[in-house]
Amino acid sequence: MTSTPNSLFRHYLDSLIQRGTTRASLTEEARDVLRTWYLTAKKGGRAHSPSSPSSPSSPSPRPEPEPVKTPPPGTAPELFPEERKPSSSITLPEGTMEDKLQYLRDLAQNWKPARDLNSLRDTMVFATGNPHTQLMLIGEAPGYYEEVQREPFVGRAGEKLNQILKAMGLSRDMVYISNIVKFRPALPNQRTNNRAPTPEEIEACLPIIMHEIQVIQPKMIIALGGTAAVGLLGEQGSVSSMRGRFHDLNGIPVRVTYHPSYLLRSDNPREKRKVWEDMLAVMERMGMPVSEKQRGYFLPRE
Ligand code: URA
Repeated sequence: MTSTPNSLFRHYLDSLIQRGTTRASLTEEARDVLRTWYLTAKKGGRAHSPSSPSSPSSPSPRPEPEPVKTPPPGTAPELFPEERKPSSSITLPEGTMEDKLQYLRDLAQNWKPARDLNSLRDTMVFATGNPHTQLMLIGEAPGYYEEVQREPFVGRAGEKLNQILKAMGLSRDMVYISNIVKFRPALPNQRTNNRAPTPEEIEACLPIIMHEIQVIQPKMIIALGGTAAVGLLGEQGSVSSMRGRFHDLNGIPVRVTYHPSYLLRSDNPREKRKVWEDMLAVMERMGMPVSEKQRGYFLPRE
């Protein structure tokens, strides 16, 4: 019998149950690996071996940055790479950036591919911040607080994101903040609890965020967490295997980093430093000033 990651994982859980364990906690790394296996299995492919992503405690890999292809000036970038063309097409209206975003907002409200799934809640949460920005941050999906306030990243993860932006010398109204999925994923008897979107939910909402990117035309995108990274880039991988370099989305550099909620769960300065190193790389690439003090944030004390 072949050992697949799923069968090995089930075997491991069985062994825990036999030993009387009734609760097991998952690190963000483990969640990422499981998400990757799940996505790969759904596509009928071979899952990564459990050992392929680097361990969260290993030093962050710092491979050479990959050159980012920039489309020649004046050419509209092809929105979707050929292999990732979504089935639903959207034609943006003529007009200002605000007109186009309003069109997308209205469209998202009754977005049939998402509605037809019947697995997402009704309230649509679009985006916040400044569309005339060079920096776009993309998260996963709204949670309880975002649904109540109809604004991305206003709960505890949002507070953490605000702190990260502040450390970069930025504020929410200087960047554009959006989510890959525009509705809070539903759960039975749901109260304040949230769940991550499924690959179907991500796929259904993908055309909206891709068109937001086309309208904003940012100089840089930060993918917050594995859901946004895998959904946007169409690559399989954990955050730890995707961070540490720039990816390319139709000429726009994309930096993948851990989701702010990961930092809420892990108080380890080493994990904070990893996110911070991603932000330093973004700042350098965008030509933002970086002080010596900023360079030293979250370095382990000797
Ligand atoms: N997490 C996200 O990914 N997005 C939000 O808007 C809130 C929490």
